Amino acid sequence: MTRSILNDTLFNAMDLSALSVDEAVTLAPECYTDAEFYEFEKEAVFNHEWLCVGRESWVQQPGDYFTTHIVDEPIVIARGLDGVLRAMSSVCQHRAMLVAEGAGNARAFVCPYHHWTYGLDGALVNAPAMGKTCNFDRKNIALPTFQVEIWHGFIFINFDPEAAPLAPRLSSLSSLIANYDLANAEGPRPEPGERHPWNWKVMLENNNDGYHASRLHQGPLHDFVPSEQAVFPELPADTAGYYRTNGTLHKDASFNATQRALLPVFPDLSEEERNRMTFVNIPPTLSLVMMSDMVIYLIIRAEGPEHHTMDTGLLVAPDATKDPSYEHKLQMNWAASEEIISQDFHVDELVQVGLRSRHAIRGRYSWQEGAQQAFNGWLVPRYQKAWQQWRARK
Ligand code: FES
Ligand SMILES: [Fe+2]
Repeated sequence: MTRSILNDTLFNAMDLSALSVDEAVTLAPECYTDAEFYEFEKEAVFNHEWLCVGRESWVQQPGDYFTTHIVDEPIVIARGLDGVLRAMSSVCQHRAMLVAEGAGNARAFVCPYHHWTYGLDGALVNAPAMGKTCNFDRKNIALPTFQVEIWHGFIFINFDPEAAPLAPRLSSLSSLIANYDLANAEGPRPEPGERHPWNWKVMLENNNDGYHASRLHQGPLHDFVPSEQAVFPELPADTAGYYRTNGTLHKDASFNATQRALLPVFPDLSEEERNRMTFVNIPPTLSLVMMSDMVIYLIIRAEGPEHHTMDTGLLVAPDATKDPSYEHKLQMNWAASEEIISQDFHVDELVQVGLRSRHAIRGRYSWQEGAQQAFNGWLVPRYQKAWQQWRARK
């Protein structure tokens, strides 16, 4: 029988990861690989934090819906005929078939299995041939609903009905990104992303990491964002997200062979903002890479201790898509991004292999990894608080 890794020693030693970056060590490797830790983490993090699932623009019209899943929970987001946006479990309350798949527009969700029918608000409105079933009242049955909040056009949900609102704990980030006007930025709904064989934190930390920029990505596609120009701000202790800015060697730098913005620049950006890139993280799901002419967003959906699925989307200034060369310019951007991302994915996959080794240790940080420390500062108190509750229940 294997011994549980969930114990006071593990959680007390997490203090070392929340120290300042010059003193801190990484989280224990088991936090990235262990199935029991992942189950704990679902309760510590995913059951109570705000989770980004998509963009409000994907569900503009009454009846519009899309589906997603995170930590084994199938979810449908729908705009009701009353115009209200709702997030629900898509699990049929009969025998657990999923009542919706993909995306589209509907007046109701008809479960394909036995045709129980749910309104866009989740209410069960029809259940055929149930008249002889004792004590069955369809009015008592509905798809479970979740809290919803919109932040700069991103839809967040929360499985915890008691969770405090998100936006008040993101005020520093809201002012930082205000000039991008992301609520009005445009971009299509990306195809649902690929499943990757590495822990969700490995992915978030990779996008979070300014240290590797001048090393792994060394070369003309990335050298204009040097690691030594990374800046890590002080943020309020209760912040729900954090960021780093990274100065660029020229104005309006962008990831393509010209090294410069090809698409229209977000019109309200200041000179300072046009001379840097900004990397925003709202754990555990949303990560943004912000440039003068486009914002790449990653929606990281944990799916087990060693897997996640990631949706990768793009936002541009309003009307940028009207440029007759928009598609060609976008292809130039994607070509560079794909090369950079493939370097990251190669590393991410092998980091996960390394984390499984008996020789994986709790490593030290460079000052250029300040955002990893910010992530630890977000994670560790949540882990430690949840451990106290978890322990009390045993
Ligand atoms: S499982 Fe949905 S109607 Fe039976
Ligand atoms: Fe990278």
